[in-house]
Amino acid sequence: MPTVRQPALRLGEVVFCCEAGAFSRVRVEVPGWAPARPGQFAMLHVEGSARFLARPFSLSDEEPRGAGAVLTFVVAPVGPASQELANLRPGARLSVLGPLGRGFDLEEILAPAPARGACPAALAGSPRRRLVIVAGGVGIAPFPLLLRTLAQGGGGGRSAPVCTRTPLLLCGFRDQAQAEAVSVLQEGTEELRRAGMGSGLLCATDDGSVGFHGPVTELLRREVSSGDRVVACGPPAMCRAVWGLCRGISDVQCWFSLEARMACGVGSCHGCVIPLADGSLAKVCRRGPVLRGEEAFGEVEHDLLTR
Ligand SMILES: Cc1cc2nc3c(=O)[nH]c(=O)nc-3n(C[C@H](O)[C@H](O)[C@H](O)COP(=O)(O)OP(=O)(O)OC[C@H]3O[C@@H](n4cnc5c(N)ncnc54)[C@H](O)[C@@H]3O)c2cc1C
Ligand code: FES
Repeated sequence: MPTVRQPALRLGEVVFCCEAGAFSRVRVEVPGWAPARPGQFAMLHVEGSARFLARPFSLSDEEPRGAGAVLTFVVAPVGPASQELANLRPGARLSVLGPLGRGFDLEEILAPAPARGACPAALAGSPRRRLVIVAGGVGIAPFPLLLRTLAQGGGGGRSAPVCTRTPLLLCGFRDQAQAEAVSVLQEGTEELRRAGMGSGLLCATDDGSVGFHGPVTELLRREVSSGDRVVACGPPAMCRAVWGLCRGISDVQCWFSLEARMACGVGSCHGCVIPLADGSLAKVCRRGPVLRGEEAFGEVEHDLLTR
């Protein structure tokens, strides 16, 4: 079980902001920031904003700077607070509460899972398994930090095991404008290459303007195979379809970064409660946002892919 790092409320300053396809990439320098785990998030509130509540955003990337870090957020401008964030300029200030929640536990995800009874000698000759990363739209946000952490293999102040799997990124977008956001993965894939690790990247678009014409889950159906590990972030329907597909394949385990409306991000308001597969209730901000497929979805029908 990953450790929950102690969150802190800090004041950050925007140092860079640019378009990333239909989204914005906002870099914020935050003094005193401690390293986060990929998949964790922060509650952001722009100084002087008319919005009363902070909003949750995934930590997309993190580079140490002095006694703190420069954090990157990838923002889809869908409403008033996200539009405000997406349009920030260097020098703007915002409060940053984080790192929050439980991110991707790479110790667990990358743990070797030899088939029962298999001897190490037989496993040595088996093909290298993959870590399949499925992103839908702005669900691409948490993965630059995941790639960086894999490349560092425990370095950079973050705890991560040496990656024994080949990352394969499957990214689904609505159209070409959204698909340009794939550029946010560039630094992470280059860092993987410099670390001597290969990775693959395939895109799908709903309108066929870039890459495969169709849902990203169709790419997943073609690529995923027994023994793979899958991490996913995207719209709820995509996540359920990923689970519906993967749970039918032997020895494939899945982790999902889930979304919920959040008012506090720290477990106090009960605004983010969702029902889990076993009928119990969980606060996404504390128990998640990353949950195992079995916990989040349990028994969903296999035909979800076609809906
Ligand atoms: C853990 C977590 C991480 C997130 N990471 C990112 C990220 O990296 N980049 C990003 O662009 N967005 C991310 N989101 C979603 C983001 O928080 C919302 O888009 C934002 O709060 C919308 O605020 P708003 O005032 O702009 O729009 P609102 O007016 O509040 O909402 C606009 C539309 O978005 C929907 N919406 C709002 N909040 C959510 C939510 N949490 N989940 C699903 N739909 C929502 C509303 O139903 C409405 O249709 C994340 C959400 C969570 C819970
Ligand atoms: S957002 Fe307040 S309890 Fe989760």
